[in-house]
Amino acid sequence: MTSTPHKRVAILISGGGSNMVKLVDSMTGDHPARPVLVLSNNADAGGLKHAADRGVPTAVVDHRPYKGDRPAFEAELIQTIDAAQPDIICLAGFMRILTDGFTSHYAGRMINIHPSLLPKYRGLHTHARAIEAGETEAGCTVHEVTAELDDGPILGQARVPILADDSPDTLAARVLVQEHRLYPHALRRFASGDRSRVDLTDA
Ligand code: GRF
Repeated sequence: MTSTPHKRVAILISGGGSNMVKLVDSMTGDHPARPVLVLSNNADAGGLKHAADRGVPTAVVDHRPYKGDRPAFEAELIQTIDAAQPDIICLAGFMRILTDGFTSHYAGRMINIHPSLLPKYRGLHTHARAIEAGETEAGCTVHEVTAELDDGPILGQARVPILADDSPDTLAARVLVQEHRLYPHALRRFASGDRSRVDLTDA
């Protein structure tokens, strides 16, 4: 019986890459996907070493030389990513805004993790905004990436309580634990062709 080839996954990061590490470490055994590239816009991203330590090819496309010319930056991103011939792109703490030129190139095969219960709190500073608004719960969302920021079809969510004495940092740490559960779970389903939504309750 011929085994079906693995789905090839490229992961984009900008910093420590804790979500990327969980994704890479999850793609073993009978998982339908394997990591083929970890790319950062930041040469100092701590995640690049974690990827290299795991034998995953890495690349850097620094956004700074392209200041003011987003399409040129994205053209180099696409060239570098496509050289690895990925089937799936995972954004994991990738902190650059992407134009619809980029998102349409990867339409239907790019996913992202966002640290809020979308559609609430798109954009940045999600935990501070949720606390400020008096929310009683927070969490994270894995969604397909479309032209609209943090707006594509939801693939999964995980929820945590917001505690009375929470700061943005204590809440972020609680949510990050759930991100590390949700993203590998959602990627495995997505790589197997299952785009149905999953909701993980707090462990
Ligand atoms: C995480 O909170 C993630 O939700 C957001 O970026 C933060 C850092 O992620 N997208 P990582 O540790 O670099 O994976």
